[in-house]
Amino acid sequence: MRSYLSWLFLLWTVLAQGSPPPDHSDNDKDNDILQFVDPLIGSTDGGNVFAGASLPYGMAKAVADVDGQNTGGFSTDGSKVTGFSALHDSGTGGNPSLGNFPLFPQFCPEDRLDHCRFPKANRAVHYRNDSVVARPGYFALGLESGINAEMTTTAHAALFRFHFPAGPAASGAAASPMILLDLTDLWDSRQNASIDIDAATGRILANGTFLPSFGAGTYKSYVCVDFAGAPIHDTGVWVNDGADTEPKRLAFIPRGFNNFYLQAGGFVRFSQPPTGPVTVTARVGVSYISTQRACDNARREIPHPLTDFNAIRRRAEHAWRRKLSPVSVVPGRASRALQTVFWSGLYRTMLAPQDLTGENPLWDSEGEPYFDSFYCIWDSFRAQHPLLTIVDPEAQSRMVRSLLDTYRHEGWLPDCRMSHCKGWTQGGSNADVVLADAFVKNLTGIDWTLAYEALVNDAENEPLEWSTGGRGGLASWKSRHYIPYRDFDPVGFGTNSRSISRTVEYAYNDFCVATVARGLGHHADADKYLQRSANWINLFKADQTSTINGSDPGFVGFFQPRYRNGTWGYQDPIACSALASWCSLTSNPSETFESSVWEYQFYVPHSMQTLISTLGGDAPFTSRLDFFHDSGLADLGNEPVFLTVFQYHYAGRPDLSAARVRSYIPSRFNASHGGLPGNDDSGAMGAFAFFALVGLFPSAGQNVYLITPPFFDEVRFVHPVTGKEELDRA
Ligand SMILES: *[C@@H]1O[C@H](CO)[C@@H](O)[C@H](O)[C@H]1NC(C)=O
Ligand SMILES: *[C@@H]1O[C@H](CO)[C@@H](O)[C@H](O)[C@H]1NC(C)=O
Ligand SMILES: *[C@@H]1O[C@H](CO)[C@@H](O)[C@H](O)[C@H]1NC(C)=O
Ligand SMILES: *[C@@H]1O[C@H](CO)[C@@H](O)[C@H](O)[C@H]1NC(C)=O
Ligand SMILES: *[C@@H]1O[C@H](CO)[C@@H](O)[C@H](O)[C@H]1NC(C)=O
Ligand SMILES: *[C@@H]1O[C@H](CO)[C@@H](O)[C@H](O)[C@H]1NC(C)=O
Ligand SMILES: *[C@@H]1O[C@H](CO)[C@@H](O)[C@H](O)[C@H]1NC(C)=O
Repeated sequence: MRSYLSWLFLLWTVLAQGSPPPDHSDNDKDNDILQFVDPLIGSTDGGNVFAGASLPYGMAKAVADVDGQNTGGFSTDGSKVTGFSALHDSGTGGNPSLGNFPLFPQFCPEDRLDHCRFPKANRAVHYRNDSVVARPGYFALGLESGINAEMTTTAHAALFRFHFPAGPAASGAAASPMILLDLTDLWDSRQNASIDIDAATGRILANGTFLPSFGAGTYKSYVCVDFAGAPIHDTGVWVNDGADTEPKRLAFIPRGFNNFYLQAGGFVRFSQPPTGPVTVTARVGVSYISTQRACDNARREIPHPLTDFNAIRRRAEHAWRRKLSPVSVVPGRASRALQTVFWSGLYRTMLAPQDLTGENPLWDSEGEPYFDSFYCIWDSFRAQHPLLTIVDPEAQSRMVRSLLDTYRHEGWLPDCRMSHCKGWTQGGSNADVVLADAFVKNLTGIDWTLAYEALVNDAENEPLEWSTGGRGGLASWKSRHYIPYRDFDPVGFGTNSRSISRTVEYAYNDFCVATVARGLGHHADADKYLQRSANWINLFKADQTSTINGSDPGFVGFFQPRYRNGTWGYQDPIACSALASWCSLTSNPSETFESSVWEYQFYVPHSMQTLISTLGGDAPFTSRLDFFHDSGLADLGNEPVFLTVFQYHYAGRPDLSAARVRSYIPSRFNASHGGLPGNDDSGAMGAFAFFALVGLFPSAGQNVYLITPPFFDEVRFVHPVTGKEELDRA
């Protein structure tokens, strides 16, 4: 089977400068690449994908918010719509993210204010399943109330159109369509907020303080809403289930008391023509700086809300076509569904991180780019950032600069970041891998002196709070050469768990530091970090076995936790897998994070030959990988599994990697709404599917791609900056 490469005719060529990017035509529907993007993939069954309208890396993300699986706002789970909002994240786990200041349209029975439904639970209404339209830059659905909504976005503003049917007005009764604004977010994390309504124009200004969905601290969010399309009937504010036309502002709404979350906001009612339907346009400017800024964003980007909708939608579509244009395929026998998995995966890698340049309330970036929603790097370093390096190196370079600027102002490279807050670190200091990956791939525009300083900072200095940056246990790492089980660490504080997964990740992080050190000519440092990168071996317990269902499948030697004094502790190698129980930061914290010893046993991407010989050689390694994938131990729904699909390569069996890929695509990654095996985690799963279909899987941080037969006849990459072309052909 080692002659595999001889039947696979795979060609990588680097052609000379010149050929223009393929024309993903705007006009020709049959050739329009956007026909293969389905934003609803991953919109249910835990994918948590943002299904609404956004520009590439856009801050404004408009969608309907539901009361079901609403981590990304909307879900095709058939739950009820509670509002329409313009800030979201995509694919994340844990608490739902953002969804600030939702609007909600309704008719109030008998046109009476006291009959309107204000609190979320009262107003929630089902959408019609067959009414959902999700396209790049556009989202629409119809509510069972008969009101339809559609939306599109610019970078910092959203444009909503609410279509109220003729409804009660046609039968002669008075009807004043209402749109309320709720001073809340998806998970009711508001700490306090304020709102002002202009009685003459209906303009609503609001601000509020909210909690990040997976991080520390609070953030402020601002909104500016202008309505058009119908005369104002009246305006006012509401608190819990009461409302009135006076006053026109709530100067300060606190959180409420204990479980009594105070619900409040403002409303505008419109006059409807006696005989017909009416469309009310809502232009929503968003900002993290001020309401003034939110209004400016809206006015600048959507100057004519009544007439701009189609032009803005077309501009968004064009932006997506341009971003996807470095890639083209000759599909061969690949189905339309597989092409949809491919293009939709690529599309999702550009939903987040979000480009918030100019919207940073924390420091003046002095011209440096500012990105947010690195959510989380533990997920995205493996495939998403390496993919962006190929298809959008300019954006990837700007993201790296933003990470470095964050290091400069906050003291540490983040491992996770959302809503301008520090997110929780899951494992190692994996921004190190992102930097090393950019380095070995010659990404331009990066200050490598600053980058190296940030890397060494991760490797040498322990932060007081290593739950949101850097590494914990560095004293032990340097003196004992592993992260001890139940370490004593009076220097810094974090969740004192994950000693095994942190050890293997810190080891690889040090390898990445060594890579950049070597490249910059810091040879003594490079030797030192290379030596530290071998620390993983210190947790290898050569006689450890693993029992499953009471029987021993015969694999000997696994990572195990180890006390400070060198004595072994114990964690069942199958713990934290689907065969045992779930482990995370706060739920069942263990010595491995969100994955088992079995899975982390393969995570030595820089020393695969040593790992393989440690595990007994090529054949035992291969059968161990097979058992891992066949037994239910492999967790396809989480990112640490990615590399294991391709690691047969290192034992000389790329054919088995190819077979393994085909056992997971399309069975676990497909074009259905539930077509992701887990949270997309920004675009991590999308990037995995993309690379797997191309037949090139990156070992992030190294200039290494593991090659398998592509699913297409041909995939062509044109470097979007230089115009150089690379061809991958089966
Ligand atoms: C809408 O879709 C959801 C999710 O698939 C399903 O549970 C619900 O029954 C559907 N509703 C109707 C009216 O078909
Ligand atoms: C709003 O809440 C935040 C977070 O709890 C707090 O820091 C801030 O002082 C509050 N604002 C006011 C005006 O009380
Ligand atoms: C928030 O809005 C209130 C009411 O308009 C205003 O008084 C307050 O200054 C605003 N706060 C910020 C930080 O913009
Ligand atoms: C990066 O640049 C160096 C020096 O010019 C070159 O040797 C190396 O091959 C380049 N790497 C890639 C991935 O282009
Ligand atoms: C090492 O430390 C562990 C945990 O404190 C203890 O249970 C064990 O007995 C110690 N081993 C030795 C050899 O002292
Ligand atoms: C363990 O036992 C369960 C229940 O009998 C079975 O479904 C599963 O396949 C077994 N797993 C392994 C790895 O043998
Ligand atoms: C599509 O993927 C999902 C998620 O992995 C999986 O549950 C489902 O069975 C797959 N569907 C098909 C038809 O393979």
